[in-house]
Amino acid sequence: MKILAIESSCDETAAAVVEDGRKVLSSVVASQVEEHKLYGGVVPEIASRRHAEAIVPVVAQALEQANVTLDDMGAVAVTHAPGLIGALLVGVNFAKGLSCATGLPLVPTHHLRSHIASNYITHPELKPPFLCLVVSGGHSHIVMVEDYTAMKIIGRTRDDAAGEAFDKAARTMGMSYPGGIALDRVAEEGDPYAFVLPRPVVHDAPYDFSFSGLKTAVINLIHNAEQKGTELNKADVCASFRYAVVDCLTTNFLKAAEDLGVKKLVIAGGVSANSLLRSTLEAECQKRVYALYMPDKIFCGDNAAMVGAQGYYEYLAGNIAGADLNAFATMSIE
Ligand code: KG4
Ligand code: ZN
Repeated sequence: MKILAIESSCDETAAAVVEDGRKVLSSVVASQVEEHKLYGGVVPEIASRRHAEAIVPVVAQALEQANVTLDDMGAVAVTHAPGLIGALLVGVNFAKGLSCATGLPLVPTHHLRSHIASNYITHPELKPPFLCLVVSGGHSHIVMVEDYTAMKIIGRTRDDAAGEAFDKAARTMGMSYPGGIALDRVAEEGDPYAFVLPRPVVHDAPYDFSFSGLKTAVINLIHNAEQKGTELNKADVCASFRYAVVDCLTTNFLKAAEDLGVKKLVIAGGVSANSLLRSTLEAECQKRVYALYMPDKIFCGDNAAMVGAQGYYEYLAGNIAGADLNAFATMSIE
């Protein structure tokens, strides 16, 4: 079955055609990032307006590139939560209109579940159960994926998400939004042991994360040096910070896997593109003889192909919405 999938939760307007949850026939992403860069972050009002402008051509392009028409579709899947409410509403209402006009079933899809499903595209053999580290700009979760539509949160961040911490550290060093990618690249040239940064732990919650103290530590390091007029090696700061974030993420993730006795590990979300996170987990999983699955880098960030993948399994589970479908800024992945 072919699904037309739509994503508009943040600053990417995306549409895709996906067959049986695994095969991507087209994937179109229109990014607004250049405009949001001017403001140092996503401006929700601007995001909504750009989605409204882009949604029709982006969907048309996705159908055209897949060489299909709406008549070939079995359902329309759309991200309905979590995200920026005005942004989500554009995709939801467009999908609803399509569903009303064509009679196609409307499948509401959770954004973080979709990030996890990006792995079903890259790894056609991958099936639940597995343990997943979901790390994006807004969330950092360790999730037990019991089945395609049955998930349990094992750990979560108590404050900032990993992506948010990367972006704020990068911004302090003058890198433009979203700085996580640039910081990752600059870190490649630096010494991860140059600066000792904290690895905050959450008392009595060994799988939870806390990144705000670490973020403040690196910001203080940079500001103190500026005040004293000392020059810090930017690559060393990036490398030390990246090492600290990745250390926190991998330590808790691997501990959860060991405690739960899960030997199949998956990562997902924008931060799953991070080079050190990928190489560290590759090495650690090899040592422990765990199977590790990571999305292809083109499917780490926001896209609609992953919505088509998860939407297929939501459809099979009978998760079909009525014409009263709404969008939600927050919603648990469970
Ligand atoms: O999943 P995503 O595209 O959007 C949300 O759902 O939030 O994640 C975006 C986040 C941003 O914070 C971005 O800086 C971060 O993912 N990111 C990275 C890398 N690539 C993207 N962070 C660290 N290293 C990267 N290579
Ligand atoms: Zn995302």
